Amino acid sequence: MIYDICVIGLGYIGVPTAAIFADSGKKVLGVDVLEKRVSLINSGTSHVGESDINAMIAKVVKSGNLNAASKPESAEYYIVAVPTPFKKDHNKKLPDMGFVEAATRSIAPVLKDGQCIILESTSPVGTTGEMKKWLKDELDKIGRSAEVDYSTIEFAHCPERILPGRMLSELVGNDRIVGGMTPKTSQRVGKLYKSFCKGEIFLTDDRTAEMAKLTENASRDVQIAFANELSIVCDKLGIDVWELIRLANRHPRVKILNPGPGVGGHCIAVDPWFIISAAESQTPLMRAAREVNDGKPGWVIAKVAEAVSRCKKNNPKIACLGLTFKADVNDVRESPAIKIVEALSHFDDCVVLISEPNIVEMPLTLAGYANFSPKEAVSKADIVLLLVDHKQFSSISPDELSGKILIDTKGFFK
Ligand SMILES: NC(=O)c1ccc[n+]([C@@H]2O[C@H](COP(=O)([O-])OP(=O)(O)OC[C@H]3O[C@@H](n4cnc5c(N)ncnc54)[C@H](O)[C@@H]3O)[C@@H](O)[C@H]2O)c1
Repeated sequence: MIYDICVIGLGYIGVPTAAIFADSGKKVLGVDVLEKRVSLINSGTSHVGESDINAMIAKVVKSGNLNAASKPESAEYYIVAVPTPFKKDHNKKLPDMGFVEAATRSIAPVLKDGQCIILESTSPVGTTGEMKKWLKDELDKIGRSAEVDYSTIEFAHCPERILPGRMLSELVGNDRIVGGMTPKTSQRVGKLYKSFCKGEIFLTDDRTAEMAKLTENASRDVQIAFANELSIVCDKLGIDVWELIRLANRHPRVKILNPGPGVGGHCIAVDPWFIISAAESQTPLMRAAREVNDGKPGWVIAKVAEAVSRCKKNNPKIACLGLTFKADVNDVRESPAIKIVEALSHFDDCVVLISEPNIVEMPLTLAGYANFSPKEAVSKADIVLLLVDHKQFSSISPDELSGKILIDTKGFFK
């Protein structure tokens, strides 16, 4: 059997993408190297904590349109959605393309003439072109070059913009960029995404599509850095930054974002480095933004240390509200809240109380800590540190906070 689509990488992007294509009538195979992710899909659910996505998976697995396996099988389209982290190397952060390369090479044994490979992973400029070379090299290595007419294989980059917490609705509604290595491929892949995408589809070339995705996240990073820097300046000058931003944003052409404890997640904290590492001398602003945002957790830790020193209680208790990298999700990757809580856990003579309503298991570095309900953590605490603006924290009333030192990194209790 030849599938319509083989999605390689069943993570936060691959799972909803496989589900929505299957729901639109395509025969889809999801592939992951993690056996647990494969068996979860085959049992009709996933690790992605969004109920509409899991309901869709239950439906499409039952209908037979989606199943999962640990190796690719032949398909008209292969969608690669594997991680693209960076390698930490002193003050440089270089893209680690090992997962994309391995996923690309894994297609070679099942590749047939006329098939198309789509890269969805956020990647440095030129990666789609690299995939073409890796696949050709692998076909040579496994002795299949004579079997496949490589000139008929097509490649495209189709970046993803979905917001965790609203993945399914954004997958359908957002505009998309499709960058084929040839205009014909852009047309072909644009038509494929039109099968479920209600947003507009913009066709371009692969390198522009790669740079567009990186640019979107670098732009967000720079804007958040401005807000974070402003919050530190306002703290020094004794000005309420939330009031300040509210007032400045009344200017018709000013739109300042909200500050926070830093920038986390798999995208905004990572992707600007793919531009910086490709054009080091040309990117002082992007580098500075990364440094401001990476420096914000340290500033928050210093604020807590100062609060501890002025707290009259012995062994003060610090309620840390939220661990995930953003509100109302269960994703803790690159989370600044975790960095902050880890540092506080090493404070002498302090007790750390954690409340994170969206996770079941504590991250490894905080294993052994209990997960309190928001109200319980706050009621026991002398210092309340709001790190993530989860909706569950809105049940905490001003009365419950009274008499406690409050450090509100998101302006949540304003
Ligand atoms: N999560 C987001 O909100 C988001 C948004 C836009 C773009 N992206 C980008 O999409 C890509 C994927 O992100 P994600 O959040 O889905 O990652 P993830 O870590 O949640 O999932 C990736 C999956 O790929 C699997 N994998 C790794 N190597 C593999 C291989 N060779 N074969 C098969 N499976 C393999 C992993 O086991 C994992 O399950 C990244 O480049 C990311 O930057 C993510």
